[in-house]
Amino acid sequence: MTDDLTAEARRRRTFAVISHPDAGKSTLTEAIALHASVIDEAGAVHGKAGRRGVVSDWMEMERSRGISITSAALRFEYGDHVVNLLDTPGHADFSEDTYRVLAAVDSAVMLLDAAKGLEPQTLKLFEVCRTRGLPIVTFVNKWDRPGLEPLQLLDELVERLGIHPMPLTWPVGVAGDFRGVLDVRTGELVEFARTPGGATLAGVQRLDPDTAKHRHGEVWATAVEEYELLRESGHGYDQAAFLAGAATPVMFGAAVVNFGVNDLLRVLVDLAPAPGARIDVDGQPRAVDTPFSGFVFKVQSGMDAAHRDRMAFVRVCSGRFTRGMVVTHAQSGKPFATKYAQAVFGRSRETVDHAYPGDVVGLVNAAVLRVGDSLYDEQPVTFPPIPKFAPEHFAVIRSHDPSRAKQFRRGIEQLDQEGVVQVLVSERRGAQAPVLAAVGPLQFEVVEERMRQEFSARVILERLDYSLARRVAPEVHADVDGRRGAEVLQRSDGVLVAVFTDRWRLGSIAGDLPEGSLSSLLTL
Ligand code: G4P
Repeated sequence: MTDDLTAEARRRRTFAVISHPDAGKSTLTEAIALHASVIDEAGAVHGKAGRRGVVSDWMEMERSRGISITSAALRFEYGDHVVNLLDTPGHADFSEDTYRVLAAVDSAVMLLDAAKGLEPQTLKLFEVCRTRGLPIVTFVNKWDRPGLEPLQLLDELVERLGIHPMPLTWPVGVAGDFRGVLDVRTGELVEFARTPGGATLAGVQRLDPDTAKHRHGEVWATAVEEYELLRESGHGYDQAAFLAGAATPVMFGAAVVNFGVNDLLRVLVDLAPAPGARIDVDGQPRAVDTPFSGFVFKVQSGMDAAHRDRMAFVRVCSGRFTRGMVVTHAQSGKPFATKYAQAVFGRSRETVDHAYPGDVVGLVNAAVLRVGDSLYDEQPVTFPPIPKFAPEHFAVIRSHDPSRAKQFRRGIEQLDQEGVVQVLVSERRGAQAPVLAAVGPLQFEVVEERMRQEFSARVILERLDYSLARRVAPEVHADVDGRRGAEVLQRSDGVLVAVFTDRWRLGSIAGDLPEGSLSSLLTL
């Protein structure tokens, strides 16, 4: 049993893709799904339009609703390995969902647009990965068309992220005359061949160095020479530096034509870390071969109009999950039955009978489970709470129709519990006019839409002028509340939150308070 669990954990890779919108995350996810053959190829060969219809339907839905409807995992076998690709929301806005997913993975793929390099959202998400110590593989996408110079991209990684790049593939040929990449691990040329629309898996041609030289002459020689220089100047591969998050393997490809996608998967299974012991709230490791444990990283209701349910997504940390087992909910100490356990990807749902460390299980009708909660079997464990981020956008919400006050209250409570937004209240504003606080403004639209659809409650939202939030000590509540450009509200977990219009206000009010009265809300 013990050996079995260790082996199951060892063959798993659980990762997420981080990128700025439009870098190609949906395209890469589809390409990976295609490799995984989770979509049947018959539906995937009708060129781009048809191809995008297959897996992306849900992504369109996600976009139109501005939320991640699923944020679930694509699980598939790849050789002897099991790969879990955890989906992150695809919209341009920040939401805490993405951060929560990053709490549930063991590594991340940072996807860059070759023409744009590092973009704002990539930077922000990279910082979260760095704080979590996640190893990051960099995939430079859209290499099929003109972009920045590869060396310029490497420089950006060093200068703007302070991470050391270690190319694992190196482009052969220049923009407009792209021949493929040098696979630095084998010395081969992976030849670039376009497939119409990228619908099918490209038949990858690997050429040994001699054949590559014969066929591509100078162009090949230049690439080999460039890589040699890089290697000699300290950019050769270093596994320890990758695992420590100090260095990132860099690969070049084009997701839209599936170029480099298989190599990316190879690198993930060969080099990215398998699930390891997870540290609990007391700093103790929970080894993967101990009885089942896991934590909730996402709660979502209304995923499917036909199933009006609430699902909690659990990342398995240790042991074997078997559907039907009765586990303990650490926060309440109560038993939790797992009769309905599912794997969710897009709109497809499959029953999960077993899961192992690194896997994701969707538990249906999980009304008691909150984001960050822990579940265990036999040996008690509580994992640390998932970081909450300091909101930067605020709005008062009211019911449009006073006769629907009950639905309004229920809806707000539900969305607060799910963590769609944080709900803040104060005596002064009253229970009918709570303040919503979000990391990104799009969350307000999500609230408006879900209140209307799921709770039949039309709402009025009024944006507030605040942009900063700090935790405030109860002793100074009265000294902050009511000052110009500031206000104190209470979060549903009891924390007192002071909000400010701008840094200047915050600074001037903080100056009048005893030191340490205001503290950061960001807990990483
Ligand atoms: P996102 O999820 O990160 O937001 O990006 P998405 O996959 O939707 O890709 C954004 C655009 O970039 C799409 O074009 C997509 O086709 C294109 N793209 C993705 N990967 C590659 C690549 O390897 N090479 C090239 N040349 N383009 C790529 P679009 O015009 O916005 O959409 P579409 O109408 O063409 O599908």
